[in-house]
Amino acid sequence: MATQSSSIDRAKSTERLERDIETLAGPDYTRSDEAIQRYAYTPEYRNTLNYFKGELETLGFEVYEDPVGTLVARNRPKGEKVFGVGSHCDSNRNGGKYDGTMGVANALEVCRLNHDLGLELPLQLISFLEEEGSGFGQMLLGSRIIAQRVTEEELREKFLAIDDGRSFWEHAKEAGYEPERWQDSIHILDDLAGWIELHIEQARVLQDTGNRIGIVGAIAGYVHADITVHGRGDHAGATPMDFRQDAGLVAAECMLELERLAKEAGKGTVGTVGEIELRPNLINAVPGKARFSLDIRGVDEVGFRGAARAIADFADEAARRRSMTAEYAQRQTLSATPLDGRVVAALEEAAQTSGEPYITMHSGAAHDTMSIADRIPSAMVFVPCKDGISHSPEEDADPADAALGAEVMLNTIRSLTAAGQ
Ligand code: HGY
Ligand code: MN
Ligand code: MN
Repeated sequence: MATQSSSIDRAKSTERLERDIETLAGPDYTRSDEAIQRYAYTPEYRNTLNYFKGELETLGFEVYEDPVGTLVARNRPKGEKVFGVGSHCDSNRNGGKYDGTMGVANALEVCRLNHDLGLELPLQLISFLEEEGSGFGQMLLGSRIIAQRVTEEELREKFLAIDDGRSFWEHAKEAGYEPERWQDSIHILDDLAGWIELHIEQARVLQDTGNRIGIVGAIAGYVHADITVHGRGDHAGATPMDFRQDAGLVAAECMLELERLAKEAGKGTVGTVGEIELRPNLINAVPGKARFSLDIRGVDEVGFRGAARAIADFADEAARRRSMTAEYAQRQTLSATPLDGRVVAALEEAAQTSGEPYITMHSGAAHDTMSIADRIPSAMVFVPCKDGISHSPEEDADPADAALGAEVMLNTIRSLTAAGQ
């Protein structure tokens, strides 16, 4: 269904996006001068929300935050249908300028273009709290709260701040929010007719295939868990090798086994041990305890969930063989998420109209879109990032690609709202 589409002044949008991204890479917006580091309930994160709030209020949007801090901005009164755009503006603890933030800046640019071109599209921008889990070790926390995929007990007692071990609940209250109303967060989805999130790809398919736009039709599912091995702490010099219960060795065996399991599962299944802690973590002490994280993902549900079960069994067996014990504790999991065919098709049509090279693909990285796609017709747009580097201060991307993304999204929303979606 062809509707009018506009090609925008891409240079002007590129300039505005560049200004947003460079401003938000400044010292007021990050806790580290070596990487972008901002997360829930920190002054730097507050400054970032205030930046977007100011820009959106200038456009006449009503801006508010949900009971725990997800930012919402609308240009229509509650009760009227709106189309959702956004992402997250918190960062990985070793973050780059573009992961998440470019997606919120792009959504802001869609709102600016709508205003400049007088298109009158009904829009709602959302910037989800704690997508990275840098504050409490829980990825997609803000959008999972909205989707009611957490429990009050987890918020009150289980989700603990990495910095000080205090609960999410305490931190939210201290920051002036109302965590007791966390279940009301779902209402920010009430009027959404659809949702599109732009994000850097965080891999190098677009770069290596010479495409500027990736239209995402599915997002890999994941399991996040921890394995703790209990051995015995001994003197590293005096303890003969046959007398040891070295928890570190079980962790080492598991890391190699996870690699083997992921490769064996195939179909794009991946497995990573990103965190490892040895106790007492001293050069001259045999580690009596080892805790390591598991990040296991894939678009093939059977494959990645099978690998998660298999590594838990392997750890148990490997520990037992050395007269130790291992315990597996899941942090969270989300299923592989198919996205909405109509929104994907409308994005493909708009990308076609743009005349720029694009492909349709799946996402290996997790995104807040996963939390709402079962309720709201959703899709994602990827733009390239240099050499696929992300979760690193070396992350690099081109605001001109996000400007193109804004044009494609604007035209997609025009066609879907004209068609009464
Ligand atoms: O890890 C992820 O998938 C996301 O970047 N937080
Ligand atoms: Mn992200
Ligand atoms: Mn990320």
